[in-house]
Amino acid sequence: MDQSVKSMQTMNKTRDYTLFDRLCLGADQVVRALTNNAITTGQPYPAKSVEDHPMTTEQRKHAAALMRINHTGEICAQALYHGQGLVSRSPVIQEKMQQAAIEEGDHLAWCKQRLNELGSHTSYLNPLWYAGSFCIGMAAGMVGDKWSLGFVAETERQVINHLEKHLNLLPATDQRSYEILKKMENDEAKHRDEAIISGAKELPSPVKLAMNFMSKIMVKTVYWL
Ligand SMILES: [Fe+2]
Ligand SMILES: [Fe+2]
Repeated sequence: MDQSVKSMQTMNKTRDYTLFDRLCLGADQVVRALTNNAITTGQPYPAKSVEDHPMTTEQRKHAAALMRINHTGEICAQALYHGQGLVSRSPVIQEKMQQAAIEEGDHLAWCKQRLNELGSHTSYLNPLWYAGSFCIGMAAGMVGDKWSLGFVAETERQVINHLEKHLNLLPATDQRSYEILKKMENDEAKHRDEAIISGAKELPSPVKLAMNFMSKIMVKTVYWL
């Protein structure tokens, strides 16, 4: 495991952070997320041993646009967990959010690596999506830990549905992106189940619909930008 991750986990277990500590940690997390330098668990790249089959220019562009959306989705995940962790009053929830953000860091790194391989860029709108998701995460965290976990469970549910769609939309020859999304889907299912086991409350339908609406706007804009 990455030495920085080990030391961060050790720090989490041995000290209580003041608000100032958490703000400094938060600023570091924002910069890391937006510069593709988020802390990861060091899981291997899922596409490592998958052949990169030739694609037409159009197929490559389409695959890159889909991976750009997934990269932004992971930026949003980082922001949601950071926002929730910042305002949660429970050290247990703070640590869970911290750990979840580290695990999502793997996904962020994989999507970025695949975008590089496809010769494309991350979304120009990522700072905006980070800011919006961070505020939503803080709002969810302020309502209480069970609701915060409910928000995580619902987010992961929607992400799994979205990844399922993208697995079908990828060009058949893009097996490398496919393997990455498949592994992400498995990880998101674990995150969803952990949130439910930890006591997540089921969110009201209007909140679920609003979350779905927001993610649709993200998907439509980030495909092009
Ligand atoms: Fe993820
Ligand atoms: Fe997740």
